[in-house]
Amino acid sequence: MKEVKIETTLQVYDDMNELPKAIQNLMNTAIEARDNAYAPYSKFNVGAAILLDNSIVVIGSNQENACFPSGLCAERTAIYYAGAKYPKAKILKMAITASSQNQVTDKPIPPCGACRQSIAEYEIKQDQPIEIYFMGAQGKVVKSNSLANLLPLLFESSVL
Ligand code: THU
Repeated sequence: MKEVKIETTLQVYDDMNELPKAIQNLMNTAIEARDNAYAPYSKFNVGAAILLDNSIVVIGSNQENACFPSGLCAERTAIYYAGAKYPKAKILKMAITASSQNQVTDKPIPPCGACRQSIAEYEIKQDQPIEIYFMGAQGKVVKSNSLANLLPLLFESSVL
């Protein structure tokens, strides 16, 4: 038996103001999407904004359903829309923000496992890392230089 250690490096910004201006703009677009989320059941709004290499920004927000499992997270709403509408574009950056309607969400909220796996598919497809930035409603912003940093041991198609 041998032990394998997996390490991840992330950057943590104190708040949005510390981000480069272009990322602040992308995060502001994610905030707008978040505030328009359809989350009547969880009361937990999530917004995502994706910058493509054709300069277009695609957004997504969580879309819930009375049949709970039929709902979809913000990140997948956004990335599947990007894949459907701009199939040839590369995804450069993704900003994510989450905000509870019940309490102040001041810690960074990372994308869920299913969303990480979904984003990973596009990172592998385009053979270029996707920068991910995530925050709560306010406070610290975490940056990952690629999706792979957030999902060690991801499942990929070479095994199929
Ligand atoms: N949610 C997202 O939109 N993204 C995530 O990465 C985690 C969770 C949504 C799903 C559901 O509408 C609500 O947040 C509570 O789980």
